[in-house]
Amino acid sequence: MGDTAEVQVRALAGRYYTALEVYAQARDRLFHRSWQFACHLSRIPETGDYLTFSVLDQDLFVIRGRDGEARCFFNVCQHRGHALLEGAGRTRLVVCPYHAWSYNLDGKLRNAPRTRNLPGFDGAAICLTEVKLEVFCGFIFVNLDPQALPMAKTFPGVEQEILALCPDIEERAFAQEHDTQEYCNWLVAVENYNECYHCKVVHPTFASGVIDTKSYNIRAFGTAKCLQHTAKAQVGETAWYDTSGSDYGSFFLWPSFSLQIYPSGLVNTYHWRPISVADTRVYRGWYSRDGVVDDSLQKVIDLDRDTTFSEDLELVKRVQRGLGSMGYRPGPLVLNPDEGIDSEHSIAKLHEWMREAVDV
Ligand code: FES
Ligand SMILES: [Fe+2]
Repeated sequence: MGDTAEVQVRALAGRYYTALEVYAQARDRLFHRSWQFACHLSRIPETGDYLTFSVLDQDLFVIRGRDGEARCFFNVCQHRGHALLEGAGRTRLVVCPYHAWSYNLDGKLRNAPRTRNLPGFDGAAICLTEVKLEVFCGFIFVNLDPQALPMAKTFPGVEQEILALCPDIEERAFAQEHDTQEYCNWLVAVENYNECYHCKVVHPTFASGVIDTKSYNIRAFGTAKCLQHTAKAQVGETAWYDTSGSDYGSFFLWPSFSLQIYPSGLVNTYHWRPISVADTRVYRGWYSRDGVVDDSLQKVIDLDRDTTFSEDLELVKRVQRGLGSMGYRPGPLVLNPDEGIDSEHSIAKLHEWMREAVDV
């Protein structure tokens, strides 16, 4: 790394973030084919618990079956296409609000009113369309591509690395989440998250409250489309809480999810859901033992939301506007040979993965 050719790598052209065609290509070739975060397993603890969500234009739900398994289905009735479930809750059967067809928790049609004597009607052959699902460190991921490689092959070694940093991560439970609109393309938000060149400029509180900036680095994890952020914990007066224990680690799983282990094992997540070419919803999740939010955790959540999280919202909105400017000529990336907090190697990786996904 760090030769002169690399120093001249330029940022992606504005159209990657503003053109409808690129957005549609990312939808079809990337989001419809990659592992997408659904929710933490602890959000559907009991039989019949469900939670709905979307991957761009595709509505889905995860539900806990009678056998204890979590499954994911497209949220669409196999009769004439009405949505089945809304929000989150618990149910004995999945019942369509249109003509009351009902489905078992494993997706099989249970009853379709007044079809018993219908010639040729084969209810046993009707089932909701299931989506691939995996549980990764306690987090549910789904993939709309039936041919998708398992997560362990997509992100080789990453789960082991997370477990090495936070051995009891699977014992965490969902504690709190907040989300908001980001007025930018999803890739603007993801890039902003994955570089810390701006941290000292824009995030003084994070830089003094959670991490030791001198030790910060972001690099691709082996052959996986994963960016690993590492840093020593910030200790002393300015730390937000008792940061003794583990270091800081964050694992960004391309294209739109990141798992963060704050020092001492405080687990939290970011995920991004594209809404349109210039709108993204960002979700910030926090996890604790038993799902309890004690005062010290609430203080960290509030501090993070009021500083780092909010500071980034302003940045990405202005960048999106700039990327649509006729005057924008993509600049050279700052690829510091020593890597570290002031390098944009991670951005070069994201651009490589984006090009691979959408360029013909
Ligand atoms: S569309 Fe669901 S029962 Fe008719
Ligand atoms: Fe930031």
